[in-house]
Amino acid sequence: MEDFLRDIKLIEDARGKLVVFENGNNCPFEVKRAYCIFGVKEGEERGFHAHKNLEQIAVCLSGSCEFILDDGKEQKTFALNSPKKGLYIGNNYWRVMKNFSKDCVLLVLASQHYDQSDYIRNYKEFLTYTKNAAK
Ligand code: TYD
Repeated sequence: MEDFLRDIKLIEDARGKLVVFENGNNCPFEVKRAYCIFGVKEGEERGFHAHKNLEQIAVCLSGSCEFILDDGKEQKTFALNSPKKGLYIGNNYWRVMKNFSKDCVLLVLASQHYDQSDYIRNYKEFLTYTKNAAK
């Protein structure tokens, strides 16, 4: 599995911090949707799904969390603990998010509008889908 962590320039001065995402620059897709996950209760885990046609970049603007990506063959855990690192997630990755710190603010940029039918929420179904998609 490739290393999906991408560098993000952090612009920091006496007033605070700023990060920029720009299509074609540090964001390889046109952003159609952005959402934030925050206020996650201690011990809660999220995700447990894959997408057939969705690219995303996840960046922890504050605090930390872990992202586990699974391509059906191997799993890799990414520690997101800095706004300087964005996790690029392509199609067909089963993802689990866990170990959220109390102050975690996770920004996710997405290449498509929200579409329920793009989700695979069953792990067995994901394994079958991803095996066939790889052919
Ligand atoms: P869900 O995908 O289960 O969150 P997670 O990936 O963190 O496990 O989404 C939680 C709820 O929010 C679900 O009811 C769908 C809704 N939702 C939207 O309406 N639009 C969105 O863009 C997203 C990501 C979720």
